[in-house]
Amino acid sequence: MSTDSTIIEVNNLVRRFGDRAVLDDISFNVHRGETLVIMGGSGCGKSTLLRHMIGSMKPTSGSVRIFGEEITAMKERQVERVRLRLGMLFQSGALLASLTVDENVALPLVQHTKKSPDEIEQIVKRKLEMVGLTGFEDLKPDEISGGMKKRVGLARALALDPELLFSDEPTSGLDPIMTAVVDQLTLKLAQGTHMTAVVVSHDMTSAFRIATRMIMLGHGSIVAQGTPDEIRNSSNPEVQQFIHGEPDGPIPLNLSQEEHKDHQHVRPRPFLGARFRFHHKRP
Ligand SMILES: Nc1ncnc2c1ncn2[C@@H]1O[C@H](COP(=O)(O)OP(=O)(O)OP(=O)(O)O)[C@@H](O)[C@H]1O
Ligand SMILES: [Mg+2]
Repeated sequence: MSTDSTIIEVNNLVRRFGDRAVLDDISFNVHRGETLVIMGGSGCGKSTLLRHMIGSMKPTSGSVRIFGEEITAMKERQVERVRLRLGMLFQSGALLASLTVDENVALPLVQHTKKSPDEIEQIVKRKLEMVGLTGFEDLKPDEISGGMKKRVGLARALALDPELLFSDEPTSGLDPIMTAVVDQLTLKLAQGTHMTAVVVSHDMTSAFRIATRMIMLGHGSIVAQGTPDEIRNSSNPEVQQFIHGEPDGPIPLNLSQEEHKDHQHVRPRPFLGARFRFHHKRP
């Protein structure tokens, strides 16, 4: 149900890649001011879901309304206008290799505002300070660590002071202290500026620290959703296995349940000697 506080409405979202429905009839809302954590096993479709929410991927069917507008039907120029109101931290960081750290963070300000170079410099300085990267302004992405790239990506996502932030694995690759710093920043922005956040996370400590609500995805659907307490106390064995990181349980290793079914009839290939496999075309 959509209310005045609804900022995103996802309805009956389906996304197929070939025959496989990675997202299979997903519906949920995001409300203003909440921090929604999306979790689920690797490859279950979390990044794909985020891409649909920011309009960079079109669904096979279904609807995504953001700020009251249908983003799935928009032309690129309209999507760009909506994107000015949101920040996106990509799972890979997605920094431009040819630009320095401060130029990467400045990019949205240069592209989308008429601020003076001095103003931009001040904003960039503040954002880098927020993520603990003062002093690294002049380095290129190749010269910083994976965790630092993540934090530059976050500083860039926050450059335009978005009212809505999407973060894909913001704390993966960060040490526990830096994870806590990034979590605190998310909490501070959520509480201080009423920013809404949609965060994909595998990191359960971080997820339970920042979430006001959680959704767990699995085999194309929403397996569970609720407040952190409801998820913690869920009687669903898949949820318990995931949040406690147990190797044994209903969630199959690597393969989704659908893929698992598909593979049951596949007989293992007879072993072929490496010489035969790799050199059989040799004259
Ligand atoms: N453009 C694409 N073309 C074909 N298949 C795709 C494409 N994008 C994603 N997929 C497939 O969709 C599935 C979900 O991918 P996605 O990146 O959304 O997973 P994820 O939940 O974010 O995983 P992780 O936790 O490892 O980041 C994967 O099986 C992936 O191979
Ligand atoms: Mg992903």
